Amino acid sequence: LKHDIFVVKLTGNLFNLPINLKKLATIINVMKSYIDKGRAKFIVVTGGGGNARAIISALREIGVNEYQLDQVGIEITRMHAKILISLLQDEYVCKKIPYTIDEVMDYINIYSLIAMGGISPGMSTNAVSALAAEATKADKLITMTKAGGIYDKDPEKFPNATFLKEVNIDRLFEILTEHEAAGYYPLLDKVALSIIRRSKIDTYVIAPEAEQLKLVLEGKNVGSRIIFK
Ligand SMILES: Nc1ncnc2c1ncn2[C@@H]1O[C@H](COP(=O)(O)OP(=O)(O)OP(=O)(O)O)[C@@H](O)[C@H]1O
Ligand SMILES: [Mg+2]
Repeated sequence: LKHDIFVVKLTGNLFNLPINLKKLATIINVMKSYIDKGRAKFIVVTGGGGNARAIISALREIGVNEYQLDQVGIEITRMHAKILISLLQDEYVCKKIPYTIDEVMDYINIYSLIAMGGISPGMSTNAVSALAAEATKADKLITMTKAGGIYDKDPEKFPNATFLKEVNIDRLFEILTEHEAAGYYPLLDKVALSIIRRSKIDTYVIAPEAEQLKLVLEGKNVGSRIIFK
């Protein structure tokens, strides 16, 4: 029986303190119900969120270099993955956090849920999620971000930004050309976008809400979808 494989990039902001475990659980429960029905496997990539941002900006202030800042950030994203795993006692959950995409390719044959964070300095967790989707021939890449979707410009800077239900990948490259640094990657960085483009990964950007995840998994149009023509 072939399972659908879904890669979910989970905003690190879900792990901001004080941590809202109830909200995390409702999102995980949507995945569990798909796994329990034998319909799907999930690779969840956890981001850095407020925890990473707070620690990285304090360290940057005293002159720590970007490489080391990224290393610290990676450990924080992996801690978030560990928190997620600790909420799940099921035997289908991979207890080890993969350090490489090769490990992901091996583990996905054995487990139904894998959680992981970053893997290498210079690479965002969005890029990791795109590579994981590419390597496992995932059916969908689902990015759950506090932005809730893709706008024609940064909605935090421009209150008049327009929500885009569909956006062409080349147009998205143009929209997202902000600077990139440790602990700060725009909605999706260039590496992630390049992977999505070269493998035409079916990508949705949605809010970190269980209801929205459910809708995407059901094949409904929710949030923003990246298109290739
Ligand atoms: N065109 C755009 N559409 C949507 N969001 C955008 C756009 N350009 C920039 N952004 C910004 O991208 C950011 C995405 O959120 P951010 O990466 O900080 O958090 P996250 O993805 O929810 O969590 P994390 O990356 O820490 O796991 C938001 O601050 C949003 O304002
Ligand atoms: Mg982000």
